[in-house]
Amino acid sequence: MSAAPLILGIETSCDETAAAVVRDGQNVLSNVIATQHDLHEQYAGVVPEIASRAHLERITPVIRETLREANVTYADLDAVAVGHQPGLIGSLLVGVSAAKALAWSLGKPLIAVDHIVAHLYASALNDEPIEYPALGLVISGGHTSLLLVHSPIKLQLLGRTIDDAVGEAFDKAATILQLGYPGGPAIDKLAQSGDPNAYQLPIADLRRGGDETTLDFSFSGLKTALLYAVCGHPVGRGKSSTFERDASHYNDSEKADFAASFQRAAIAALMQNIHRALDQHDALKSLIVGGGVTANSLLRAELQNLAQRTSIAVRIPPIEYCLDNAAMIAGLAAHSYHAGKFADWSLSASPSSKVAV
Ligand code: KG4
Ligand code: ZN
Repeated sequence: MSAAPLILGIETSCDETAAAVVRDGQNVLSNVIATQHDLHEQYAGVVPEIASRAHLERITPVIRETLREANVTYADLDAVAVGHQPGLIGSLLVGVSAAKALAWSLGKPLIAVDHIVAHLYASALNDEPIEYPALGLVISGGHTSLLLVHSPIKLQLLGRTIDDAVGEAFDKAATILQLGYPGGPAIDKLAQSGDPNAYQLPIADLRRGGDETTLDFSFSGLKTALLYAVCGHPVGRGKSSTFERDASHYNDSEKADFAASFQRAAIAALMQNIHRALDQHDALKSLIVGGGVTANSLLRAELQNLAQRTSIAVRIPPIEYCLDNAAMIAGLAAHSYHAGKFADWSLSASPSSKVAV
């Protein structure tokens, strides 16, 4: 066993083929990401079959490139880690198969990493260790979950979305506004020039359902409210139904008002539950945020505000570690390595996370 393991991480859960080399959970030696956005853009969402085929084509060159950039050889590695859940099953299987084949042929241990848990580790990369216990918020295209984080590998779910993930809501809002895919960055950019109070879109409060302590989220009502505000009422019935108008009816400044109003409501819904969770749980030392939506500029500003007003350390990863990447996989894997938690050759992929359903 190495005291400071050198780990190769592999990440293929969605539409990024990624590999990274990290020393002892901290020092990122290389972090290579081949994005597939151009392949999925015309479909306004990730097409699973296209994603897995692209992973197959890219995985070997991406792994070779990351070793080259890190200036290490296969023989130098102490373990191979892979994100095996959650995600698109066909995509995950490409990474899992590559990791198993590599680990087996090199005679190195294999480490299975949960993608969601890895997002909550990303802020420790090339930075100070995270102080625990912490509140964790994972916000991505597939997840919106609040967790109590006792250590890098011990977590407990506090709340999750009961319908759409917040990133998915951003992507759908961008589709409604005809802004292209992925929608989050496009909404964020357009919102800079819009009036966030132009439209009063709903911020879901699930406490009204009767459970005063719930920390669950809901974003489908917000998405539908935006749809009606932009497109008007449905016209006709069944398959032939349309709307009174579409986004082409508006100029850029009007679209910016919709984007800013949507973004204000979506981020307010996240902040509302962060505040409630901080009230409900004493002695939290940090707030860790991870997942693609962490790139959002309004959320970052709100979190900076929170950091200035409380004694909690707010841990926001730099953007390269917010989005899907393999450095977070290789980094978190060091903690499994030290705990002696290795996977065997029966490791498979799973579409769902055990910790953040
Ligand atoms: O974590 P991630 O890269 O992939 C998943 O595991 O889903 O997150 C991607 C999501 C997409 O829904 C994208 O629209 C959203 O993160 N996103 C943003 C921003 N940048 C990416 N959402 C809001 N504002 C942004 N600046
Ligand atoms: Zn992710």
